Amino acid sequence: MLNIVLFGSPGAGKGTQSQKIIQKYNLMHLSTGDNLRNAIERQTPRGIEAKKYMDRGELVPDEVVIGIIGRRLDEFRDKTNGFVFDGFPRTKIQARELDDMLTERGTSITLMMALEVEHSELVNRLTNRGKSSGRPDDQGIEIIKNRITIYNERTKNVMDYYKAQQKYFGIDGMGTVDEIFDRISNTINQQMPKAK
Ligand code: AP5
Repeated sequence: MLNIVLFGSPGAGKGTQSQKIIQKYNLMHLSTGDNLRNAIERQTPRGIEAKKYMDRGELVPDEVVIGIIGRRLDEFRDKTNGFVFDGFPRTKIQARELDDMLTERGTSITLMMALEVEHSELVNRLTNRGKSSGRPDDQGIEIIKNRITIYNERTKNVMDYYKAQQKYFGIDGMGTVDEIFDRISNTINQQMPKAK
């Protein structure tokens, strides 16, 4: 299986690039953010709990998002060539759990790509999206900056976990969507022989 962690700050382009990756490589997109927003819309107990954190731009507790990923892996693993993990893992605990869950299912992460985007561009992208997205966490500069701060303080160091496994690849996330996708595709193509 080709299993990809697509990593980066809020606004880095994870969701946008995930769509292009799953189409080109015929993979399944697993976004914890999309899943949680869906749970909020359906007003499930998990959604009601998660909303308290998401509206402030804080991380939802590890056990909640780990549970989501475990269920999705079981649901889709026989139906796909692999997964794009978007917005997960965001802590080292989540990264270790993901490795364990994949090992139990006879597979592993092939590569992790981190989209690198300048702070001012992140703020611009999220502010622009906030005009039409309806996402509470896109509303206002303070919450947008808080999400980026949380990424820098609590999530960014997940890169070290993948660097130690020689699976980390930094990707220049500035430029047009297609330019960035070309860089991503080149990296995936080089690493594909390692998929198992
Ligand atoms: P999540 O849904 O993962 O959101 P995020 O990380 O804040 O990411 P965004 O969706 O804002 O950005 P993106 O990188 O996907 O960029 P996108 O392609 O959308 O998480 C939301 C919340 O859920 C978290 O804050 C947390 O509370 C909770 N959560 C989720 N996962 C969790 C976990 N594992 N643990 C704990 N809590 C968790 O692009 C952004 C905008 O830019 C779009 O408008 C897009 O059109 C535009 N754009 C994209 N690329 C370009 C480009 N090249 N040029 C110009 N504009 C561009």
